[in-house]
Amino acid sequence: MSGIILKDKAVVLSQKKIWHLRDGLLAWYDAHGRKLPWRQGARDPYRVWLSEVMLQQTTVPHAAPYYEKFLTLWPTVRDLAAAEDGRVMAEWAGLGYYARARKLLECARTVMREHGGIFPADEAELLKLPGFGPYTSAAVAAIAFGQAANVVDGNIERIMTRLYAIETPMPAARPQVREAAGQWVAEDRAGDWPQALMDMATLICRPKSPVCAECPLASACMARARGEQERFPVKLAKAPKPRRYGVVFVMRAGDSVVVERRAEKGLLGGMLGLPHTEWRSEPYRVEEVTPPLSAAFETLGGYEHVFTHFALTQEVWSAQLSDEAMSDFLRQNNRFQLMPLAEKALPTVFAKALKLSTAPVSRDLFG
Ligand code: ADE
Repeated sequence: MSGIILKDKAVVLSQKKIWHLRDGLLAWYDAHGRKLPWRQGARDPYRVWLSEVMLQQTTVPHAAPYYEKFLTLWPTVRDLAAAEDGRVMAEWAGLGYYARARKLLECARTVMREHGGIFPADEAELLKLPGFGPYTSAAVAAIAFGQAANVVDGNIERIMTRLYAIETPMPAARPQVREAAGQWVAEDRAGDWPQALMDMATLICRPKSPVCAECPLASACMARARGEQERFPVKLAKAPKPRRYGVVFVMRAGDSVVVERRAEKGLLGGMLGLPHTEWRSEPYRVEEVTPPLSAAFETLGGYEHVFTHFALTQEVWSAQLSDEAMSDFLRQNNRFQLMPLAEKALPTVFAKALKLSTAPVSRDLFG
């Protein structure tokens, strides 16, 4: 008998049962799948790739407007490859993890240079492109080219660990999860299948309070049979992230704010940012802080931003400058430039500071 051996060396789901359940989930997808922008029209590998890279960063509702904007600005891989780096980085601002935007451009240029502007229709070939990991290669192979690729993301991990009640904690369970997910992959509707799983994971098999009564796979779900859905995927307790502290300076004149281009290497490399102190492990005392220019700075309180490797608590100091003081300052400090507030090209860690500075209430005042 074929089937997957996962728990107590017992065959927990026969292949026949899997195909039957798979049909059920695809029928559910036809009726209830989300109408997402990248699902409209003919399958275009460029659009599939762009959406998948964005969706690795963030949720569907957050990614959708970025996706639409990118497609308006750069409708084809040729257009994106010819784009100016700074413009692409600015449009990416707010999606986070900027290394991905760099890889995006690098990949578009590689596709133009080495593949004549046509994405290779093969998972192994896709994997060689810049920024393509196992997930993106499988997703593009399946969704854009209809190939039976084993697509596994966090959503699919959640479904599989629940279905088979996989006790091994993530990420150690990845090989088991891949094996389990692989049993469900088929040529038939190969591109719809991972998307059906993702929609089901979002709408039904949610991390908290899954709606099992509506789940087409419920009859086979081992976690549900035990009433332990939310315990899966099992995760090891995470070590808390180290905390760092900083002070960020919002220096405004009219509707513009002072920004600087960050060093190419390092965190948020090459992005525009607000000037700030070093991010260090001790909080700053007021007398330790030297703003880029002497002016009447107001302290607006602090906020938190969590990066991959540390959590930052940042105080916001804000000053309004006259046009004249601003011109003098910029003339003497050519690493800074003015950015209109409406431009919204700052990474989230700085956009949060701007938001605080444009909120109506402020606290104490320093001269
Ligand atoms: N998350 C990542 N890729 C997705 C897709 N194609 N559809 C829905 N959610 C997704």
